[in-house]
Amino acid sequence: MTTILRGNIIHAPAFGTLETIPRGYLVLEDGIIQGVFPDLPERYGGCPVEDCGQALIMPSFADLHLHAPQYPMLGMGMDLPLLDWLDTYTFRTEARFEDTDYARRVYRQLARELIAWGTTRVAMFSSRHTDATLILMEELENAGVTGYVGKVNMDRSSGPAQEGTEESVRETLRWLENCHFAHIKPILTPRFTPSCSDGLLEALGKLAAERNLPVQSHLSENTGEITWVRELHPDCGQYWETYDKYGLWKPGTLMAHCVYSDRREQEAMAGSGVWAVHCAASNLNLCSGTAPVRELIARGVHVALGSDIAGGDQLAMSRAAVMAIRASKIRRMEAGGDFLTVPEAYYLGSTAGHLYFGGGAGFEIGHKLHAIVVDDSSLPEPARELTLAERFERSIYLMEKEHIRAVYSEGRLLPRPADGR
Ligand code: GUN
Ligand code: FE
Repeated sequence: MTTILRGNIIHAPAFGTLETIPRGYLVLEDGIIQGVFPDLPERYGGCPVEDCGQALIMPSFADLHLHAPQYPMLGMGMDLPLLDWLDTYTFRTEARFEDTDYARRVYRQLARELIAWGTTRVAMFSSRHTDATLILMEELENAGVTGYVGKVNMDRSSGPAQEGTEESVRETLRWLENCHFAHIKPILTPRFTPSCSDGLLEALGKLAAERNLPVQSHLSENTGEITWVRELHPDCGQYWETYDKYGLWKPGTLMAHCVYSDRREQEAMAGSGVWAVHCAASNLNLCSGTAPVRELIARGVHVALGSDIAGGDQLAMSRAAVMAIRASKIRRMEAGGDFLTVPEAYYLGSTAGHLYFGGGAGFEIGHKLHAIVVDDSSLPEPARELTLAERFERSIYLMEKEHIRAVYSEGRLLPRPADGR
């Protein structure tokens, strides 16, 4: 089936490149992109056109690091640094997800909100609970969110959220046996080195190799955390080596934060194909620091963005992109270097994440459509006619979910919440 969307098409096929096609045509065959055209090619002449008018048609967002069981504490508990924040607020909030009815309610709302904000791909942490994790995966799948979800593993220093080592491995196997979703796949998720015993890290590394599973965790987020890791693993020169030691440092491994990753750690990432997920809001809220995003990119590390709720206080990836820009300006004021531009931050919050999952660079031919249609007509009346690049910039800064008129995921137009989804 041929579908043609017409509107102001905007995408970022490369870091720092923004392409705009005024009132162009986006042609799909069974949800797969056939091309973007300023004028409709003759061969599509007879096909119906879905005209989005003056709205912006842009690739959707991808959130490569967030904690689903922290959604209930969104916008709260911002008065402590990482380790105290985990002990005081986070572990006890996550412990609530033992209750599957509660999990169902929270995760249904989260899944709908992700789509409402135009996030169609995620790499997400659940809690340690197998049943709640399966509920989360089901709710995401039903809402049209795609990507990875991980049952969290943590068998030490994790307060009421802790599990036994054997239990952790056994439950991980039970979870994997029950993951039968079309678009939500499992990712192994040792929370971070301090909350996993050596035995657990070893078991997870073996599982990752045996079943060819991807891995996500946290790296070099906070100075107290780094000191603790050094005490726990005196044989490792740097934090990343604690993951490498157990086979968890491999192509496609996602490492959130990397605020304090120095040249050696960055080179280890680039050399192994490990991705850095930059979570600027969380890094500021928890007083962690500002990550060396440009350095990472210059050294050849793949970087994407994460909301990291609820260390981050905003689910919207447009806002995560804005926070990445602000954090880069703080870093510039303190250490020099260039800040991130709006097209660069959008690339990291959209294209980079889609590429991680094997999607296209912008509206690349041959890939399933992941897109949002943004109606900016209710934003302040401008003093003069704006270029598409200016409208794009303003939309990234000011977009509310009400401006997102339509969301496409895996080539499919998702029903709107008002339609009784
Ligand atoms: N490190 C270990 N767990 C967490 C978490 O839940 N949030 C953040 N920001 N860092 C962590
Ligand atoms: Fe996190």
